[in-house]
Amino acid sequence: CLRNDTRLFREEGVSNYTIMLLQEDTKLLLLGAREALFALDLEDISKKQASQEYDCKNKGKDLSECKNYIKILHKTEDNRMYVCGTNAFDPECDYMTGEDGKGKCPFDPYQRHASIMVDDNLYSATSMNFLGSELVLMRSSPPIRTEIKTSWLNEPNFISLAQLPKSDWGDDDKVYLFFSETAVEYDCYKKPVVVSRVARVCKGDTGGRRTLQRKWTSFLKARLECPVLGSQLPNIIQNTYRWCDPQKHWSDCLFYAIFTPQSDTSDLSAVCAYSVFDINRVFAEGQFKTLVPVETSFIWVAYSGEVPDPRPGSCQTRSLDLPDQTLHFIRDRPLMEDIIQPIGEKPLLERRGAAFTCIVVHQVEAADGQKFHVMFIGTEDGTLLKAVNYVGEMFIIEQIQLFQSPEAIKVLRFSDVTGQLYAGSDYGVVQVPLATCGRSLSCLDCILARDPYCGWDATVFGQEIPTVAGTRMLGVWFMPGGSVKLACPSSSNLATTKWEVNGRLVASSPRHEILQDELLILNVSDSDAGRYRCLSMERSKGDQYTATVAEYQLSLKGEPRLPQAQRNGSSTVGLQVVIGLLVVSLVALLAWNFYNGHLPLPWNCNKKQSGKSYESNGQEDPGPL
Ligand SMILES: *[C@@H]1O[C@H](CO)[C@@H](O)[C@H](O)[C@H]1NC(C)=O
Ligand SMILES: *[C@@H]1O[C@H](CO)[C@@H](O)[C@H](O)[C@H]1NC(C)=O
Repeated sequence: CLRNDTRLFREEGVSNYTIMLLQEDTKLLLLGAREALFALDLEDISKKQASQEYDCKNKGKDLSECKNYIKILHKTEDNRMYVCGTNAFDPECDYMTGEDGKGKCPFDPYQRHASIMVDDNLYSATSMNFLGSELVLMRSSPPIRTEIKTSWLNEPNFISLAQLPKSDWGDDDKVYLFFSETAVEYDCYKKPVVVSRVARVCKGDTGGRRTLQRKWTSFLKARLECPVLGSQLPNIIQNTYRWCDPQKHWSDCLFYAIFTPQSDTSDLSAVCAYSVFDINRVFAEGQFKTLVPVETSFIWVAYSGEVPDPRPGSCQTRSLDLPDQTLHFIRDRPLMEDIIQPIGEKPLLERRGAAFTCIVVHQVEAADGQKFHVMFIGTEDGTLLKAVNYVGEMFIIEQIQLFQSPEAIKVLRFSDVTGQLYAGSDYGVVQVPLATCGRSLSCLDCILARDPYCGWDATVFGQEIPTVAGTRMLGVWFMPGGSVKLACPSSSNLATTKWEVNGRLVASSPRHEILQDELLILNVSDSDAGRYRCLSMERSKGDQYTATVAEYQLSLKGEPRLPQAQRNGSSTVGLQVVIGLLVVSLVALLAWNFYNGHLPLPWNCNKKQSGKSYESNGQEDPGPL
């Protein structure tokens, strides 16, 4: 079911909500669907501000095909909208004026494509013709595109186009294309092998003078590897997210990318991250591949001859002035020998099940300055996963079903301004907050689930990131012969828990039951008094990582007690619960007051401790321990 802090937008009779543009200055979410464009309130997408129909204009063809899927949505620098639709296999673009869309917008709504607006100039990766056979990376003006050659692009599936932030220092004058294609270099396999690639072109490229006229003279590509253990065939890139730290140089930017298996026998999706620095190093210094004849055929091998000067793809010389030698070289050898490896040479996250479809990454900074990258990943079945890196390892800390029925998430965006995520599918669009602390989870659960947004939300008290879960000790008084329940609430399914008393491990025994989230001590006696700690342990890179979750001081008390609580008690349970809750509230309130002035609390989610955090059968008094 839908959580109640989500918002849904869908319009009767409209489907395929697969393109989004955030307009944070005007607080709008522009949403492209089939035959319609909507402007929604960014704060609450269930509020429609405006809409425009984009009927199929070309009704001459087969009527059933006459659908106009909005595929491209960009804003120009003078705040005009640039929209392209498939328009019944006759793509059309519109500045709200009307323009031929061939080579910009796909003909076929099912064909993958990519586009980006760079200095009011549209870069697009799509097909140029109706059949979808001429696939190109093009720029609209001055017009320029890739050669139609299998060594340049071989049955590509375009994923995304990206540029890096403008910078005063450094030469960021390039546009990056992520895609997958049938590898020309692995001819030895019986079946064609698909590989993932990143290609790069120079923004200033206008084509060569005689060779490569109106073709990119800077187009280079390299293989991207996301090595998943045990998979034979390369994994295929499906979506990317560019992440840049505004305080750092653009070469420190990262590309997060989602990969899924090439063969149906695996259902392991992965996320790999690449640094722009590593990508550019391969293009700037790496070896090229070249085609050499072997017996009756040709194979691609590392090129060991001299590389012409200026080096192909370096963007330093005006493309019209490039010597023929450089142009011939790049025309025949756009592929690098070196493979781009992900950071850490392995995926950040791997997971079986519904395939990953899209990703956005958000950085959270804790009060101590520690920064966390939180990945939000959409899946084929409509689940949104939230994953965080702790001590070098990724954990999925939350999983939300966004749509009522399993429905692929096709587009995912987030807004810094609203702190909300927006996810689109064929069926509709859903808006969810990045942070759910204090909403779906209790404060403590949230800490235990290691959600850095908990620390993010805390402002009043000292802030602590949950890598070291803070605790405060509670006093528990017991009567001999009774039973005591000590809670160790953990909504984190990442951890295993153990109990210590006075520093010694508590072992399971007939009197000590260690349950999922509590310790039950039956028939308590003097010897049970002491300091109890519940520790949560997680494995990380082979090391055990431990945090204290709860601490109790168990002391003997010689006063009359309330009726004994039984774990599976019957008639008195209701009363006990009421009394228990009253007592617990009192304890929490007093403990709060007491510690407030003396100890900084590790979290603050404006939520009272719930009754489950502490419960025992005896009269309970808080107090200095
Ligand atoms: C969500 O649930 C909370 C309590 O569970 C309630 O106070 C709030 O009004 C609900 N919000 C909506 C939009 O239904
Ligand atoms: C559009 O949505 C419908 C379901 O409403 C789906 O069957 C169809 O495949 C979608 N079309 C595209 C191009 O994704």
